[in-house]
Amino acid sequence: MSAQAHPIAPLDALVDGEAQRFDVHGHRLAVVRLGDDVYVIGDICTHQDISLSEGEVDAETGHIECWKHGSSFSLATGEPDVFPATRPVPVYRAWVDADQVFVEIDDPEGTP
Ligand code: FES
Repeated sequence: MSAQAHPIAPLDALVDGEAQRFDVHGHRLAVVRLGDDVYVIGDICTHQDISLSEGEVDAETGHIECWKHGSSFSLATGEPDVFPATRPVPVYRAWVDADQVFVEIDDPEGTP
């Protein structure tokens, strides 16, 4: 397995304090900008197939809430802290380089 860096968007295209969905290399991602930091987690709630990027971001606690039943996931660890979701969403390494946001995705086949 190899990890590949994929460009997501210019930092300026992300609204501070909100989540946006991106589909990158077969992965459904929720991308959250908090100031100059960017967090990327799996977009699919682990309780049901609901898009977390449609939920509210809590910038103070660094969580995003699933709008369907209220589970709240850490942007840093992917762990839910409120039922009914009990399993974490995946967390992806993300960074900003020259005002472009990148995400690292494991590629089991090693293809670019
Ligand atoms: S679908 Fe997300 S908490 Fe139920």
